[in-house]
Amino acid sequence: MGQTPSPPGEAVDLLTGHIGEPTQARLLSDRRGSRVWKVQGPRGVVALKANNPDSDDARDKAAETAQENDHLLRLTEAGALSPSYRVGAGTWEGGRWLAVDWIGGAPLWRSLALARRPEGDRPSTRARLLGIARTWAEHLARLHAVGWAHADVQPTNTLVMPDGRTAVIDYALACGPQDGRRVPYRGALTHTTAPEIATAILTTPADTHIQARPAADVWGLGASLFWCWTGHRPVSYSNDVSRMEKLRAIARGSTTAVRDVRPWPFAAFEETLTACLSVAPAARPTVEELAASW
Ligand SMILES: Nc1ncnc2c1ncn2[C@@H]1O[C@H](COP(=O)(O)OP(=O)(O)O)[C@@H](O)[C@H]1O
Ligand SMILES: [Mg+2]
Repeated sequence: MGQTPSPPGEAVDLLTGHIGEPTQARLLSDRRGSRVWKVQGPRGVVALKANNPDSDDARDKAAETAQENDHLLRLTEAGALSPSYRVGAGTWEGGRWLAVDWIGGAPLWRSLALARRPEGDRPSTRARLLGIARTWAEHLARLHAVGWAHADVQPTNTLVMPDGRTAVIDYALACGPQDGRRVPYRGALTHTTAPEIATAILTTPADTHIQARPAADVWGLGASLFWCWTGHRPVSYSNDVSRMEKLRAIARGSTTAVRDVRPWPFAAFEETLTACLSVAPAARPTVEELAASW
């Protein structure tokens, strides 16, 4: 108790072949049963993910880590991900681990700090905002083209590189063709959950898998950009209400008008955000269309 958890020894041993003897391992994230360390060696840096063996849902989280590995292998095979992204995976005494290439980017919320302020109303911030949005849509387009949905499109699964390009991480919950036996998908972060996914969660038993479609990623993309640019989530509900109550509000389909909360006017961008947040999945633009418009 109280001690910072160390990365699984089995993983570190195997990673030594890839990055050399690790010189540093820093815990970056420890939430909802999954942990991520930045592991540095003389020949490279990786993000090492493992389930927390002490969490209540340790078995599910271990299964999710194994599932993410399976998704990375299949997405790489399909040409949607660079072969260099997945570094390795395996078991350890507490469950499963997965290592991926380190992405030296900043989370979306932090990257849009200036854009959220009135001083952001200038050509360079507009170009940066559009560049982030466009490269994010392009990344998702590679998944959608081969029949996959990321299914957890949200600010913490997006890293913005110093050059303003976006990288997408966390493929644990992705939904693909011929998924076979898998951890049932029941939505991811509430605030970026598309209305059709919210409705499915509310109307099906808790162990039923919901197959997320590309249009749900588009809603998540619009919701994330809306949230991180305006500082407001697209559907208004109190923080105190239950997840189910929030999902009911999302399923009802009314979103805050972007013009009421935007930090400064940006008509073309506002229009595409509003289109992404259409209740009917078919009314949303595709990520290919978004990439072309941004
Ligand atoms: N490849 C990576 N490069 C840099 N940071 C990463 C990488 N993978 C994960 N992280 C960091 O760890 C956090 C959690 O990782 P993620 O894969 O989203 O796991 P989970 O959401 O299941 O905890 C991310 O939000 C990010 O800050
Ligand atoms: Mg994540």
